[in-house]
Amino acid sequence: MNNFRMYVPTDIRFGKNRLEELPEVLAEYGKKVLLAYGGGSIKKSGLYDKVVQLLNEQNFTIVELTGIEPNPKIESVREGVRLVREHDLDVILAVGGGSVVDAAKVIAGAVFYEGDAWDVVVDKSKMSKALPLVDILTLSATGTEMNRNAVISNTKTNEKFGTSGWELIPKASFLDPENTYTVSSYQTSAGSADIMSHLCEQYFNRTQGVDVQTNVAEALMKTVIQNTPLALENPNDYDARSNLMWASTLALNGLVGNGAGQGWTCHPIEHELSAFYDITHGIGLAIVTPRWLKFCIEKDDSTHERIANWARNVWNIIEENDEKAARLGVRAMYHYFKDNTKIEMTLQATGITTTEKVREMSELAVKHGGLNSQNPYVPMTENDVEKVLL
Ligand code: NZQ
Ligand code: ZN
Repeated sequence: MNNFRMYVPTDIRFGKNRLEELPEVLAEYGKKVLLAYGGGSIKKSGLYDKVVQLLNEQNFTIVELTGIEPNPKIESVREGVRLVREHDLDVILAVGGGSVVDAAKVIAGAVFYEGDAWDVVVDKSKMSKALPLVDILTLSATGTEMNRNAVISNTKTNEKFGTSGWELIPKASFLDPENTYTVSSYQTSAGSADIMSHLCEQYFNRTQGVDVQTNVAEALMKTVIQNTPLALENPNDYDARSNLMWASTLALNGLVGNGAGQGWTCHPIEHELSAFYDITHGIGLAIVTPRWLKFCIEKDDSTHERIANWARNVWNIIEENDEKAARLGVRAMYHYFKDNTKIEMTLQATGITTTEKVREMSELAVKHGGLNSQNPYVPMTENDVEKVLL
């Protein structure tokens, strides 16, 4: 196991009926709040009204940043920075999915940077401190609620980049599974595919002696596999939604990845798909992940044993031959996404009907993700990525 630092000071308020704790949590950081949210799901669900009423009762000043897009755009971040400066706000309250929380993180960091907000996305060293951030999460997927990462898109340049900073970790996250009851089946499936991908990206590593990380990742994957169909069948299944919510948080807060050398591959590839075509993150990952694992099996025999163990432990594959077991595990994952979560497993189904940009996206994935270095589980060339995508 490698050395690591795990610093995750987020105050997690998990469970139902905890919203009345919000004013006290926020007041620790100030009374002037930037309320950041997305395209309106929180208005439909009634969460917006509850939050605003609570804060008004306690005499908070609320300035709203609305319309944060899925795959949040740099323009929303710039607008948030402008509002914080104009109204001299103390704290950001993000209410929504990963996109809202990510935009809020970068607003929090960019407020203290004099230049353009896009600079801090491209170069995280330009962020030194950040405004405090509290969130109310409404979608189980990204893990942003307990980590220091944020991903922002620039549609003018077809770029989707991640940035990070210790100062960006939310001060508190309200995780009420009931707030995810209204998530559509499409977004529920996409969210679960995202969690599965986070776990795979970290699980497939070559570090010796990482039993804790391996076993925790397997348990979280099994949890997602079991609970997603339950949530799809009954969106108000509290236990299913709870397990998905907590799994999404634990899958990307360092618990599984710290101490195990990781080189993420599917995410850099997906980020190019989203950068060029604005597709839903989790759907892109559901399509890429099984194809990538098949590529690993075919390119590098030394991957067979680990992929076979994953197949046996997570997908209950009974097969002694490692390569065969590995292939069966990948098939099981593919069919799980396709049959159980009803994700259409082709790029065409996401609206990418032309292969025109595949070469460019493959080159950029290798460049931005360092895929041809020794970091990834199996290094990839532009041709390899192209084959995975076609
Ligand atoms: O915008 P609203 O109206 O709120 O609707 C959203 C949006 O249309 C809707 N939604 C969210 N909660 C809902 C709901 N609809 C009904 N009921 C609710 N309770 O769902 C749609 C998607 O929301 P979004 O926030 O985009 O989804 P997600 O949480 O999957 O976030 C995706 C973004 O996070 C990034 C992705 O790249 C993508 O930009 N990621 C962030 C990571 C991180 N910070 O650590 C890691 C991930 O790997 C990922 O890259
Ligand atoms: Zn992801």
